[in-house]
Amino acid sequence: SLYREQRRPQYHFSTRRGWINDPNGLVFYEGEYHLFYQHNPFEREWENMSWGHAVSKDLLHWEELPVALHPDKTGTMFSGSAIIDYDNTSGFGKPGNPAMVALYTADSPDKQVQCVAYSLDKGRTWSKYSGNPVIDSKAKWNSKDTRDPRVFWYAPGKHWVMVLNERDGHSIYTSRNLKDWAYESHITGFWECPDLFELPVDGNPAKKKWVIYGASNTYMTGSFNGKTFTPESGKYYFSAGSIYAAQTFNNIPESDGRRIQIGWGRIPQQGMPFNNMMLLPTTLTLRTTKDGIRLFSAPVKETEQLFAAAGKWTGLTANEADRHLAAFSQADRLRIRATIRLSHATEAGLNLYGQRLIGYDMNFNMLNGMFYSPQDPTSMELTADIYIDRSSIEVFIDGGAFSYSMERKPGNGNREGFKFWGNNITVTSLEVFNVKSIWQ
Ligand code: FRU
Repeated sequence: SLYREQRRPQYHFSTRRGWINDPNGLVFYEGEYHLFYQHNPFEREWENMSWGHAVSKDLLHWEELPVALHPDKTGTMFSGSAIIDYDNTSGFGKPGNPAMVALYTADSPDKQVQCVAYSLDKGRTWSKYSGNPVIDSKAKWNSKDTRDPRVFWYAPGKHWVMVLNERDGHSIYTSRNLKDWAYESHITGFWECPDLFELPVDGNPAKKKWVIYGASNTYMTGSFNGKTFTPESGKYYFSAGSIYAAQTFNNIPESDGRRIQIGWGRIPQQGMPFNNMMLLPTTLTLRTTKDGIRLFSAPVKETEQLFAAAGKWTGLTANEADRHLAAFSQADRLRIRATIRLSHATEAGLNLYGQRLIGYDMNFNMLNGMFYSPQDPTSMELTADIYIDRSSIEVFIDGGAFSYSMERKPGNGNREGFKFWGNNITVTSLEVFNVKSIWQ
């Protein structure tokens, strides 16, 4: 029955039926987190792009609602964002009932234009603005790649900001009413699904930096004056693998203050009536490291309610650790937090039925195919927090300094479950948690 299919994610959002890709219009309003998303309600493949819609009170338990935005004569509904227009700058609101306003791309064979829609009933039903499109910039860029508007309120300037993918990077536009947009600046080197936000460094509200990123999660830190982003860093990544097109929430209450992100999990769901999934919501933070200021991500604290401790050990050999994990290798869903200490400057890791959950090469600072230099470069230790679901695996390293995600491969007859490997390594700490299903 519903949500019980063989590979149905048990603590991640997936759609009942059809295809999903990018999260869209992430916004918090009146106690609900809204997750809109690129959706084909009719087939398992990418087509007929619409905005699907789900709501949650805790970022974990989701209720899928009817499709929010359907294709129209301007095009199909590509990615975008949503905000609550509390000051009714758009005029779409009613007294005491501010509009939820979505900025999205309408895609046609000819071009991609930016459009506006609004809802007065908490995102349940939508009206498209009669003056659409509000931006048509194909001619200016001589490019069809003008899409994915990411809008937020810039309080110091009392205006709206839109970051938009245009041809070879991200442009900034500004507006006072969400309808009339003025081009301000452009920064090259990013691709699709922009985001831009300010974060305190090390939790210090007196020291803030702006972060800009594109769909691949490569980011830069710098300053932003409401019209132009000025980089102060190189380009880095904080998450890799199956994640793509992640977006952060608008209108999270100031009393909460978190920067919460949801990323698309490009994880094929073989033989299922649905395809792909969303990854765990994470909190993003900026922290000072030996390499400079870096973006960290870790699952939101709400996820803690899902986990029940099932074992905790310290100072194990690889074989001892394997024996403790043997009972869990077939588990539907599981969380493992493990610290490994290498004793030789070589490679070490953890496999599950031959699949590499951790593969760390400390000579070349490579972790599952990506560069990763530990927080303490002289340390022989690495901590991996591993979230396993029916069809996905997410791994958060050293408190979120780096993370990666992958499809969970079926065992395929391989008899060896969990297996730590590496020359004489120690599993200095091993914790296992059972995970509740969000659909029960
Ligand atoms: C990213 C993306 C966006 C686009 C959407 C279409 O995955 O290509 O740039 O708006 O998907 O579904």
